[in-house]
Parts: sequence; C-alpha cells; structure tokens
Amino acid sequence: MTSSSIPALRAAAAATVSVVAVGAVVLTAHTASAATTLGASAAQSGRYFGTAVAAFKLSDATYTSILDREFTMVTPENEMKSDATEPQQGQFSYGNADRIVNHALSAGMRIRGHNLAWYQQEPGWMQSMEGAPLRSALLNHITQVAGHYRGKIYAWDVVNEAFADGGSGGRRDSNLQRTGNDWIEVAFRTARAADPGAKLCYNDYNIEDWSAAKTQGVYRMVQDFKSRGVPIDCVGFQAHFGAGGPPGNFQTTLSNFAALGVDVQLTELDIAQASPSAYAATTRACLNVPRCTGITTWGIRDSDSWRSGENPLLFDGNGTKKAAYTSVLDALNGAPPVSTTPTTPTTTPTTTTSAPPPGACSATVSMNAWNGGFVATVRVTAGSADLNSWTVTLNLPPGASVTNAWNVQHSGDGWSNVAYNGHLATGQYTEFGFQATGSGTPTVVSCGGS
Ligand code: XIL
Repeated sequence: MTSSSIPALRAAAAATVSVVAVGAVVLTAHTASAATTLGASAAQSGRYFGTAVAAFKLSDATYTSILDREFTMVTPENEMKSDATEPQQGQFSYGNADRIVNHALSAGMRIRGHNLAWYQQEPGWMQSMEGAPLRSALLNHITQVAGHYRGKIYAWDVVNEAFADGGSGGRRDSNLQRTGNDWIEVAFRTARAADPGAKLCYNDYNIEDWSAAKTQGVYRMVQDFKSRGVPIDCVGFQAHFGAGGPPGNFQTTLSNFAALGVDVQLTELDIAQASPSAYAATTRACLNVPRCTGITTWGIRDSDSWRSGENPLLFDGNGTKKAAYTSVLDALNGAPPVSTTPTTPTTTPTTTTSAPPPGACSATVSMNAWNGGFVATVRVTAGSADLNSWTVTLNLPPGASVTNAWNVQHSGDGWSNVAYNGHLATGQYTEFGFQATGSGTPTVVSCGGS
C-alpha cells in the first residue's frame, strides 16, 4: 500500500489544508477543499469516521477496498467480545481480533475496542457464574484482554448496555450487575490499570433521547463517576435508529453529556431504510458538539448489517454509495474546521464575561452546575492580533477544587493553551474546560497572549 492510500495520512493532509485556511476566507477555502471520502471529510474537523468490521470479510476485496478507502476507525463487530476472546476460562483466543487490529493499524486506521464487559455474548462458563467468583473472573478478563492490546486501542467500550430499558432509569439485571452495583466502576478502574493510554467509554443504546429515563440514568452515573474520579473518558451512543432517524433532541443529549467532561461518540450508527435526511441530521448533531469526536456505522454494505433486512447503511450490497452516503459526506464537508467549531447551547445556567477585549484576548465562562460540583467551559477569543499562545487567569469560587481539566494546562490561577490550541487568528476562539467540586462561578481576572 502506498502512503497516499493510507486514510489517516490523507485525512491529516486534508485537515492541514482547512486549518491553514482559517482566518482569511474560511468558508470559501473550506468548500473548495471539500474531501471525497468519509474519513478525510470527518478529519477536516478533527473527527474520525469508522465502521464495524468482521474478520471473516477481510478476504472480500470489495469489502476491504471500501474499508481502506473510506474509514479511519475500526470496531471489531464480534471478535473482541468475551465469548470470542476467552472461550474457556483462562484460555484466551485473539486470532480474529488480531487480524482486524493488524489490518487496521497497517492501513493507518485506529481501533475502538468492543467490548470488555457485556451481559450478552458471554462465554458459557461465564454465563453460569455468579457473585465473587464472577467478579474476579471478569476483572481478570479485563486485565488480560486490555493488556493484550495495550497501546493499540484508541478507546475501549469497557462496559456495554448495563442500563435497563423502560422507565426505571436503573441498572439492567444480569449476573454482572448481581456481583454488586460497583461492578461498573471497578471495571473502569481495572481497564485503566491495564491500558492507561486508551480512552475508556460506557456504551449503550436508546440513550439518544434526552427525556428518556434510561438516558437520565446513564447521565447520572457519568456525573457521579466524574465527581468521584472514576476513570471514564467517553460515552458511546449506539444510534441504532428507526426510519425516522434520531430524536429531535439528540444534539442536546450529546452536548449535555459532553458538558460533564467526557467525549461523546456515535458508535454503532444504522438507520432503517437509510433516509438521507435522517443520516444528515444525525451527522450534524455530532458536528455541532465539539466533544463529539467521531461517528462509526455498524457495518459497510447493507448486506454486512446485523439489520440487513432494513437496508440501514451507506453502501448497497454491491458496495455502491447510496444517497445517504452523499448526505453524510456533504454534512461532514459543511462542518467548520477544528478551532472555529461553534458550540451548541447546553444547559447553561450562568455566563460571566470578562471586560471588553482591549488586549490580546477575552474569555467567557459557561457553567453547568449540580449540587456539589460543576463543569466550567471557558472560551478564549483572540483580540485584534493573531495569537500563538494564551493564558487566562481565573478566580475560582472559595472552596472549589479542580478534579479534572481538558484542552488546557493549568498551574494555580493560570490556565494556558496546550500545543494544539495556542494559535488563534484574530477573532477566532477555542474552548477548554474543567470539572470541580464546590459551588459558585469562576470569574475571569485577565486574558493575555502573545
Ligand atoms: C451485534 C453484531 O452486529 C452481530 O453480528 C451479533 O450477532 C450480535 O451483536 N449492540 C452492540 C453490538 O453493542 O455488539 C451488537 O452487535 C449490536 C447491538
């Protein structure tokens, strides 16, 4: 394979073009550089576009040519589930998963590991276990599998589908749940120890509608985990939709979860009958949320789909692009480039603004608070000159204590850019965030840059 056919390299080139264009004639330059594959077009705004892959299809030339051309992220469809990786207790089997991982890495694609703990597709020996022996078998499974792939996985679905359907908003009953309600956080801590470099996600379906009890239950768990320092980095929204596509408030759901200080991703997207407008709406919901870092469809061609009777994917059985493909590509090409991505309103009770920008930059703080804690999002906007670096000085409310911060380095009251967000053209902005315990609103003392 030549380097120019490696998706990530092509994507990086496309991203460079649009970032360089920022500042002068952003929209014109951006449109002129419209990318022609899903992966390259998603990369223009710093995102990935992925697909589920089945190991046994890697010998199908049509399949792999679309895979290598279009996608920059791969999720093994079944090969990393516990029945596949530990078919007999203590005997691990990685052949098919390794085939996918090797293919993806050698083609420059990244990998979402799916999954480490799920009540379905458990091997028989695990299905018949309960209590303390099951807890320790699960933790050993996580340690072994995440350890085997240490350093190779972008994000792990550590726990899949642990919440109940319907109106309870509570946990789903399963042998894993019956080992004790703390099983999820213990799974996350175990995964962190086994592969400290992987992002750790909770993944579920029917959590796209903000008003659904199941969504609220997962939101409360993530909020609780963040407030107690349980290592969770992302939430995966499976996004298996009916013909009508996503609920109207899907973007609200994504931005509200993101405001907790986690990345969000669409992890298993498929839509019955693949309406182009439903696919476009789904794509835009992600693009409008800065911390929505990527989209994965659950298969390549309709014939590859677990819902093949509903023709829910972007390529038909022959591998030909469908109308839904074009609508997704167009939506991705319409996304603003990385550092000018507009934010969407979250639940924002209060906003404080610094003095008008006489100097290098200005900063505003948006708050999402709950009883005992908050997430602050700080927007830094360049003044009348381009900046290569910036520092915001903040006054935290008395007693507040920072537990987690992103897109920023901080020391005492000073909050400064990291390598990738220091450069801001005149009028351009970037955002960083942090989570803290306590109450009250941080105030901006100054914003300086050079
Ligand atoms: C599905 C696979 O696509 C099928 O091949 C398999 O028979 C069953 O599992 N939620 C998930 C995925 O998290 O792992 C499921 O994948 C689809 C629903």
